[in-house]
Amino acid sequence: MKKNIQVAIDGPASAGKSTVAKILAKKNGFIYCDTGAMYRALTLAAIENNTNMDSEKDLLTLLNQLVISFNQQVDGQHVFLNDRDVTLLIRDNNVTNSVSKVSAYKSIREEMVLRQQKIAESNSIVMDGRDIGTVVLPNASLKIFLVASVTERAERRFKENISKGIDTDFEALKKEISDRDHYDSTRKNSPLVQAEDAILVDTSGLNIEEVVLKIEKLMETAI
Ligand code: DC
Repeated sequence: MKKNIQVAIDGPASAGKSTVAKILAKKNGFIYCDTGAMYRALTLAAIENNTNMDSEKDLLTLLNQLVISFNQQVDGQHVFLNDRDVTLLIRDNNVTNSVSKVSAYKSIREEMVLRQQKIAESNSIVMDGRDIGTVVLPNASLKIFLVASVTERAERRFKENISKGIDTDFEALKKEISDRDHYDSTRKNSPLVQAEDAILVDTSGLNIEEVVLKIEKLMETAI
């Protein structure tokens, strides 16, 4: 039987993980799983249902009622919450501002990890997040830890927002990224850390094509 290939891409917010992961998955005919989108979908549901975000139990009860799924469409991958397309809604600022808190709870992470492992069971996959190489897919064929300076990441997000017509303050964006880095790397449960066997790729000063090329070379030797 053909062995499924798993590529794990972890790293801080806005390092380019999802852009790179999507391209790699498409080129290789693998599926792509954006684990951050799953935490975002739960956060959106919590906001909409007025769930108390200080209550891990209430959030878990909510999560157990949700089906979070991905669907490949012509314009890219869409995220569904039960039967509703929430691809754009989960990128809202109010979701971004609360998702670190929601994703820090142990029982929430355990349930998400089980779901993510199930998605990876029967397919070759590129999965991106914060704990893929350390917790979700510890035996991944290739583990990448993607980083870039805070300033560079803020510049990328800034350009992206401007192109979408979203009014953005650069300094506030920089602070938001560095606050989220701090929160994600110092939380008690599965903090953002580089797996021992992950390869560090610094994308500062590189464009997407250069990053993809770099990872493809690593895939050739690792797989
Ligand atoms: O990659 P992103 O910005 O969409 O992720 C949203 C949040 O979810 C981020 O604050 C960290 C958290 N996250 C996580 O804790 N574990 C993952 N595997 C993916 C994301």
